[in-house]
Amino acid sequence: MASTVFIAKETEGEPRVGGSPDTVKKIKSLGLDVVVEAGAGDSSRIPDSEFEGQGARIGSRADAATADIILKVRRPTSDEIRGYRSGAIVIAIMDPYGNEPAIAEMAAAGLTSFAMELMPRITRAQSMDVLSSQANLAGYQAVIDAAEVYDRALPMMMTAAGTVPAAKVFVMGAGVAGLQAIATARRLGAVVSATDVRPAAKEQVASLGARFIAVEDDEFKAAETAAGYAKPMSEAYQAKQAVLVAEHIAKQDIVITTALIPGRPAPKLVSRDMLKAMKPGSVAVDLAVERGGNIEGALADQIADVEGVRVIGYLNMAGRIAASASLLYAKNLVTFLETMISKESREIALKSDDELVKATMLTHGGQVVHANFGGVKEG
Ligand code: NAI
Repeated sequence: MASTVFIAKETEGEPRVGGSPDTVKKIKSLGLDVVVEAGAGDSSRIPDSEFEGQGARIGSRADAATADIILKVRRPTSDEIRGYRSGAIVIAIMDPYGNEPAIAEMAAAGLTSFAMELMPRITRAQSMDVLSSQANLAGYQAVIDAAEVYDRALPMMMTAAGTVPAAKVFVMGAGVAGLQAIATARRLGAVVSATDVRPAAKEQVASLGARFIAVEDDEFKAAETAAGYAKPMSEAYQAKQAVLVAEHIAKQDIVITTALIPGRPAPKLVSRDMLKAMKPGSVAVDLAVERGGNIEGALADQIADVEGVRVIGYLNMAGRIAASASLLYAKNLVTFLETMISKESREIALKSDDELVKATMLTHGGQVVHANFGGVKEG
């Protein structure tokens, strides 16, 4: 009998889904059966009939109990875990940092779980990189949300009745989200500047037509890890950075912050005093709010008024553009899933020595196996 993949309807207000008509078709072609929980795609504008049209059976939550593989967006809740059989594979964005008890719970339930966000950033895994696929859309959506809240036009408009000046947008953190925010703000006609602590970002920012602003000392020149991520910066660097940022921010209309360091609280980059120095009606968007925030006073899932600046702190920015985000996320999932299916037998064949499996597997055989989350790494 063919193995079964279950595409779950998310709980807890998550609008995205870990499957699309395209990926159902792909999974079927690998030789597996697909059951989609009824309504799973509703918030991503994918009706059940579209999944069905590609060969999925529409089922209920109870079908998870017999599934071999469960595809999700978020880590399963305790309740959901109880509905899965021991030995099942669960693939999701697991948010493992600081959530060791929840990881242990998946181990105890006998689940083989994979955290998509731990995918190594190597060429082979680029199409499985959920951080990139979701951050890219989050960066876009941050600009759209900022533009909605901002009461003025973004592009310069020269009219017979006078000239509307272009908005000045400052993007802090020029990784995947930041670069898309820069590109989007530029397309809308804003005058854009950006900062980052990684020297590699300088050229990328310039190539998008934005001005690069940063303290470029020796520490800056060494701030990038081999994996391409930022390192935590020293207090002395942060103090210099704050002076530069304070001066620059006072002249901006919109500030978008995206600065993160993997596995750590977000660096605090914008203080109340800096916000106070901005013009009335200014807008800020904090994309790092889930990890403590880059902006002082930002509140989770709210538009907070901080010193006269409207600070947008939406938690799930990619979820605000769910119909696009789900399609990309589902594709990330299925590309990874494909590496687990034997082309010959068309059955699940986990390769425990594969570097993708090693990097992303959290639990297996009743144990936490990932060394970073309390486990002893296998092999
Ligand atoms: P991220 O989400 O961890 O951080 C966002 C940005 O914030 C980064 O650019 C980081 O340098 C910046 N940042 C951290 N602390 C800061 C501070 N104090 N002030 C200002 N900025 C600060 O990073 P993300 O977006 O996931 O990407 C990081 C890098 O990885 C980028 O260079 C990206 O191009 C690269 N990458 C490589 C891929 C590959 O497959 N080779 C795939 C995706 C990204």
